[in-house]
Amino acid sequence: MAEREGFEPSIPCGMLAFQASALDHYATSPWFPLELCLDIRRVGDIYQVGDFCLAAARFCAKLWLIMHVDLSASSHSAKDSQQKRLQERKTAAPVAVKVCDVDFVVERGVYDTSVDTELMAQTVRLGSDDTFLEVGCGSGAISLLLAKKCLRGVATDINPLAVENAIFNADRLGTENVSFVWGDGFAGVDEKFNVLLCNPPYNNLPTSDPIERMFWDPEDGLKKEFFHGAAAHLLPNGRVYFGWANFGDIDVGLPLKLAEQNGFVLMNKTQRPSRSGKYIFYVMEFAY
Ligand SMILES: C[S@@+](CC[C@H](N)C(=O)[O-])C[C@H]1O[C@@H](n2cnc3c(N)ncnc32)[C@H](O)[C@@H]1O
Repeated sequence: MAEREGFEPSIPCGMLAFQASALDHYATSPWFPLELCLDIRRVGDIYQVGDFCLAAARFCAKLWLIMHVDLSASSHSAKDSQQKRLQERKTAAPVAVKVCDVDFVVERGVYDTSVDTELMAQTVRLGSDDTFLEVGCGSGAISLLLAKKCLRGVATDINPLAVENAIFNADRLGTENVSFVWGDGFAGVDEKFNVLLCNPPYNNLPTSDPIERMFWDPEDGLKKEFFHGAAAHLLPNGRVYFGWANFGDIDVGLPLKLAEQNGFVLMNKTQRPSRSGKYIFYVMEFAY
């Protein structure tokens, strides 16, 4: 983008709906720009400006899209709240939870689902012939909800208690089109899928047992492995969904950096506030 330095967007985003309908008129005027620069502040605006871009592309030699992603950090620390929750998860009795109005059981030692789980389950787009792979499935809630919409899925987890729990939930729900596999990242999964997804542990902290992997990701190993291995597990035109949040003690831009380093482009971002309202959960959609 260096050559665009100092270049100001010619039309503010808020005016695009109006401008799109007026394009034909403007195109006949002698001052209509040969180059157009759109400065897009929110990913959702992409959809708003889609028609405009298509129309503008007929008249412009070049169309520049500058996309900003607002991921400002909250003052809330992931480590503080998750340390307490982790101790509870290590000793808790099985709990009944509802995700997208479906009942799941979460066993001791397994991530007990939250707003992030539901946001991921609601955001992932799948067609009836599509297949998916979830890395880090926990209790299996996301995979079991997605399985209803598509052909089949595979889900892995490094915590054997999570895999057992997910199989238990699959049996309870009578779901037969998801295979649950115990493994680290993509280990043991050789096929390619239409959709890959991961709602990862956030903090780069050491672990002393597999249960702690629900919150701590030593050296950010799962995140790096996920984006590094994603292309090799993705069918043409596939999509990747990655869960994240704006906690103050994690690198809020990390998924975008890892995605870019591995050839992925951000296509969309959905978000929802935590129950406390102190931070925001995201699901980012990437294409290769
Ligand atoms: C935040 S929990 C999310 C669980 C579930 N997807 C959900 O949203 O409810 C992260 C999950 O990733 C798993 N995990 C962490 N590191 C992993 C790795 N290297 N390979 C596979 N799974 C991993 C954890 O055991 C945990 O179940």
